[in-house]
Amino acid sequence: MNATSSDDKWATGGAYEAFMGRWSRRLAAEFIRWLGPEPGLTWLDVGCGTGALASTICSLADPLSVVACDPSESFVEHTRGRITNPRVSVVVGGAGHLPKSPRGFDRVVSGLVLNFLPDPRQSVEEMRARSCAGGVVAAYVWDYAGGMGFPGFLGRGSRRGREGEGS
Ligand SMILES: C[S@@+](CC[C@H](N)C(=O)[O-])C[C@H]1O[C@@H](n2cnc3c(N)ncnc32)[C@H](O)[C@@H]1O
Repeated sequence: MNATSSDDKWATGGAYEAFMGRWSRRLAAEFIRWLGPEPGLTWLDVGCGTGALASTICSLADPLSVVACDPSESFVEHTRGRITNPRVSVVVGGAGHLPKSPRGFDRVVSGLVLNFLPDPRQSVEEMRARSCAGGVVAAYVWDYAGGMGFPGFLGRGSRRGREGEGS
């Protein structure tokens, strides 16, 4: 989980889709089924890339809303052009500047991102801070250390306690 590939590039949505998107979409579906596709929730997708996870949330979890963010403007532009569901907003932003919601998000999720962040622990804490009371933070990464084989789920969901209860 801690290993990082400095060879990964994601400047162009089309290239990413051809290289990785076809796998990350399959993985996103497994993840949402594992997490439990409860309908009517608000979601934050951190590091949305070309929208694999955000679009899967729409197709499997019938969300109230999805905010998908990525620091790459070209990915955001690409994803805006592909996801037309009005419940989805795609915005520029990343760890350190995650979008906020007044009541917090029910689900804060991230696919194939955490190991690329300079301080994943701090980023997970930021994700937790963006979740609502009783919300869930969950993420997955490729198992680079294990040869980047098709992964099992590497991040366990953590349910945030009600305000003042801790987690
Ligand atoms: C391997 S891609 C995963 C994209 C998508 N979630 C998926 O499952 O296909 C990694 C993504 O992390 C994004 N990223 C890089 N630095 C980030 C940061 N500081 N905060 C959030 N996302 C970041 C990249 O722009 C890229 O879209």
